Order: sequence, then C-alpha cells, then structure tokens
Amino acid sequence: MADSVSRRADRALNIPEFLVHYLLEVSANAYHSTDNPSGKINLGTIENKICEDIWLRKVEELTPLIVDKSSLYYYNLTGFDILRRNIGKFLGTKLKLSEPLDPEKIVLLDGVTAVLNATALAIADEGETILCPIPTYGRILNDIEEVAGARFYKVPMFKEYDTGDAAEFQLSVIEKYYHKAIDEGHTVKGVILCNPQNPTGKVYSKDDISSLLEFCASKKIHAVIDEIYALSCYDKPTFTSVLQCDIPDPCRTHFLWGFSKDLSLSGFRCGMIYSENTRLLDYVKKVAFFCSVPAPVQIILNAIISDSEWLDTVYFPSYQERQRENFEIACAGLEKIGIPFYHGTAGSYIWMNLTKYLSNKTEEEELALFHKLLEGGVYLCPGKEMISPYPGWFRLTFTTYKDHVIEGLKRMENILSTCSSA
Ligand SMILES: Cc1ncc(COP(=O)(O)O)c(C=O)c1O
Repeated sequence: MADSVSRRADRALNIPEFLVHYLLEVSANAYHSTDNPSGKINLGTIENKICEDIWLRKVEELTPLIVDKSSLYYYNLTGFDILRRNIGKFLGTKLKLSEPLDPEKIVLLDGVTAVLNATALAIADEGETILCPIPTYGRILNDIEEVAGARFYKVPMFKEYDTGDAAEFQLSVIEKYYHKAIDEGHTVKGVILCNPQNPTGKVYSKDDISSLLEFCASKKIHAVIDEIYALSCYDKPTFTSVLQCDIPDPCRTHFLWGFSKDLSLSGFRCGMIYSENTRLLDYVKKVAFFCSVPAPVQIILNAIISDSEWLDTVYFPSYQERQRENFEIACAGLEKIGIPFYHGTAGSYIWMNLTKYLSNKTEEEELALFHKLLEGGVYLCPGKEMISPYPGWFRLTFTTYKDHVIEGLKRMENILSTCSSA
C-alpha cells in the first residue's frame, strides 16, 4: 500500500482528533457581533480570552526583548536556567510552599500535552496501563496512547445525576478499578489525575490527594498530578497542591503545570514537570530535544513570570474578577434555560447535563445534539470527548469574550427549546 505507515502511526491515526477538527472549523467562521454576527460561537475550547486586552499590551511591551542574539541560536533545550528558576519561585509563592521549587527538578516542554506524553513514555512501556479518573480532559488518552502506546484505563468518578456537591472523589473507586485492571491482566504503572479537574472544576481536598498518594505508594505505582488549573480557583474550597502534601513516594510522584490556562497563554506552548525522580527527569530531557520551548518564547515568559508586581496587581486581579463575572453570567443563563449542571470551584468551564434533550441516552444522540447546537451557531464540547461515562453531558467554557457567552447562551436557549425534553 502506497500510504502504508508503521503500526505506531496506524494506532495514532485511529484515534480521531475531534476537538481540533471543530476548533479549526469554528475558528474559520468565528462569531463577531458586527463583522460576522452569523458566525459560530466557541464555548467548547478551553481558552482564556477574558484578559486578551491586558495580554496584548504586555506582549507588545515585551516583544523588543526577543531582538537579542540569545533568540537566534541553540540553547538549553530543557528550559533556560533563569526561566526554570523564576517558575520555581513563582509556583513556590503561588502554591504557598515553604520554599521555591528546585529549578534542577523542573523540565520545560512545549505544553503540558507534550509533558503528559513524555511522562507516559517514562513510566509505562507499550501495552502497560495508566488509570485515569473520568470524566477527564479527553486528550490525556491521545497523550498517553498515541506515541507512548500506554493503555488508558477508565475510572468513573461521577454519578449520572451528580449536579450538586455530590460528585465526590472516592479513593475506594480508584482502588476498586486498580484491582479490576489487575484481575483483567493489566500491568498498572500509574494514575493520572487532573486537579482541579477538567471538565467538572472539582477541586480535590488535601486529604483526597494524600490518600491517593498513600495508595499509589502502597502499590508502587506513579501518581501524576496535572495542576494546570491550580491558579484558576474562583470559589471555596480553594486549591491545595500535591506539593503541599506529605509525599510518601517522592520518586513516583510528579507535578505538572503550564502557561496555557492560569496565565491564558495557550499559544505560547509551555508546560513543565517537577519531580524528584532524576532518571525520569533525565529521560524527559531527552524528549525535550523533540519538543523544546523556542528561545524567543522563553525570553518573554521569563519576563512575565518574574514580574510578580504586574502579575499580582494587574493580571491576577483582573483574571479573577472577569472569570467570576463570566461564571455568574453562565450559571444564570443555564438556570434560566433550566439546564442542570455541576461546576466545582475552579477552572474555566461548567459541566452540563443535557440528557433531558436526548430521547435515548446514547453516544449517537449526544453527537446529534452536538451537531444541532453547532448548526444553530454554538460549539460545545460533547461529553464523549471528556470520556464521560454517561452520554448527554457537555462542557461549556465561560472564559471567552463576555458577549460571546451571552449570545451563546441565547442561542442555546433557542435551539434547546426546539428539542423535546424527556
Ligand atoms: C487538564 C489539562 N491538562 C493539559 C492540557 C493541555 O495543556 P497545554 O496547552 O499546556 O498543552 C489541558 C488543555 O485543555 C488540560 O485541560
């Protein structure tokens, strides 16, 4: 066959890129109140656009910094020393740690996507298994399976009608599914947990995380904690980082963070791992040859992350205020339409239960509703893409432009009013 590819490539090609496909489609015909009022509204992708004005001014101010010879040539591909040092200081302060993170234990790659892939490569051989509580950020499946060939094992953490504070993290569930996977013949190498969770916004407590760490240590499996929304809490309970917990197995506990969400800079492509496991870090450094953060980007990120005065007096106060404002608009809009939802206390999104608009709770009907909403002008993330155990849930991102949130909710109301609710 002329277009034959390796089994590895074939495996990756069999995992569809649904969200990327629709992001590009919707971006090509994006809504604008005057220039393109019939365009599509994107409430499906998690991007923080609420501080776009602030970031454009900041990036314009910092751009002259890249007119420097250090932008032009090879550099430390695992991350500039100064940037890793400043990230360590920044996270030490923001996560209320007793001291800055050791820059020697940080490696930077071009996004947490790349970090998840590198971590999977480092902790699991092909065919070995990583447990993942679901619903979850769905790309984790691609990130660990496509290149690393690890197996994603679903651990359902959400009951079908959880809309209040009922969606509790239950360690017993992970333990139960660990044993189930072992009984089925899997070799379990770790757990990947997003905290705060995407798509629910659930913030797990220090006790929850400590129990998870104890469990992983007892089974000698890795605990990979993705805290990419750590600084995006808008309500109580506030967030406690894994790095604030007593860590029983430091060499198998890994912390992930990046600039895409808390700092709104998803286009800059920068994520990091912090770990005590030097062999794992050395391996991730090898992977960095394939996906390092470009020098000009590191120069700008370093200027941003070291400017704590600007971050604390300009960016974070505006981010928090605007995030809260959009969150309230979204909640009020959903209540008006009569959509039940779960929202946790962090992140940029709300997890909505649209099952009453499906006559049968099937993936096909969920997809049909997705298309109906899209044709009506609103792009929402269907639950299947968040590996939801139940069809009919959708994720709505509220950290886009305020007028898009308002118009998107209006469109949802119109479209859903034409669906018979069960
Ligand atoms: C939980 C989680 N981890 C990782 C990522 C990917 O982040 P990055 O843009 O750094 O690759 C996302 C993006 O939505 C996410 O929600």
